[in-house]
Amino acid sequence: MNYKKTAQAIHMNYLNKFSALTLTAAVLLCSSCAKEPEVTMSSAVSSSEASSVTTTEAPASTPTPIPTPLPTPIPTPVPEYVDPIYDEEIWYDGFVDPRSVTAQIVSNPDDITVVVNKYYALPLDYVPSDLVDAPNSMNQQLRSEACDAWIAMNDACLEATGQGLFLVSGYRDANIQEYLFHRSANLRGTPFACQKNAWPGRSEHQLGLALDITPAGTSEILDSFGETTTGQWVNEHCFEYGFIRRYQLEYAYETGYGQEAWHYRYVGVELATYLYENDLSLEAYYGIEQRLPWDE
Ligand code: DAL
Ligand code: ZN
Repeated sequence: MNYKKTAQAIHMNYLNKFSALTLTAAVLLCSSCAKEPEVTMSSAVSSSEASSVTTTEAPASTPTPIPTPLPTPIPTPVPEYVDPIYDEEIWYDGFVDPRSVTAQIVSNPDDITVVVNKYYALPLDYVPSDLVDAPNSMNQQLRSEACDAWIAMNDACLEATGQGLFLVSGYRDANIQEYLFHRSANLRGTPFACQKNAWPGRSEHQLGLALDITPAGTSEILDSFGETTTGQWVNEHCFEYGFIRRYQLEYAYETGYGQEAWHYRYVGVELATYLYENDLSLEAYYGIEQRLPWDE
């Protein structure tokens, strides 16, 4: 999918809809005017009286036309975009530099099923209103609903495997995200950062719905998490608690990120179950998979 073109198409669609609404309102206004009762000078009133008495009362038997109420057009909000820093898209082996694409700012950041990726951005100052401190973490926060699910999943994992989980990273604001992107680019190069780190405003961690998880007893994220006992259990059961494995290897070109064995996203039990049972990325579910240069 060409996001830039799609975003622009959506924009034009909104503008067209708004123009259509305005035109409809104008037509209704004119037809309403045409139905106004005619005002006539009374033949009983002389021309000299016309200055003080201008109309006669309608005869009692004449029904008074009820003016057609005008619908109030509700303008559809025009989507807002983050302009790219670079003039053209820059790709590194199938992973685009987020600074080189136009991103649409999402209008529903509080929706637990919202997509945030390189092409769909949060306002930089967005902070979820219901962040709570998450247990089994070092001062991490999550949105309340996601935190309840995290507690339930951790308890079940402990009971089933004898080992619990540790939340390495939950909510992160845009400033931290900017620091992480630049640190990653400086240490491991821009192509790596574009594959692993979200640009500020484009991270699900800013939603308070993303969790980087590792087995209890460690505090580092592990590439091998999916091969650990706890990781295997989480991957089989996370949907029952509303979580999805967000960045799987086979979804990489759809999501725009390489595999992250540790990163889970809360979307609610219903959607998580659907995605798990149908083996879909969140982007594929919404039909907004990333389009690669060689797909054009
Ligand atoms: N590592 C994921 C893509 C993030 O930074 O949000
Ligand atoms: Zn993460």
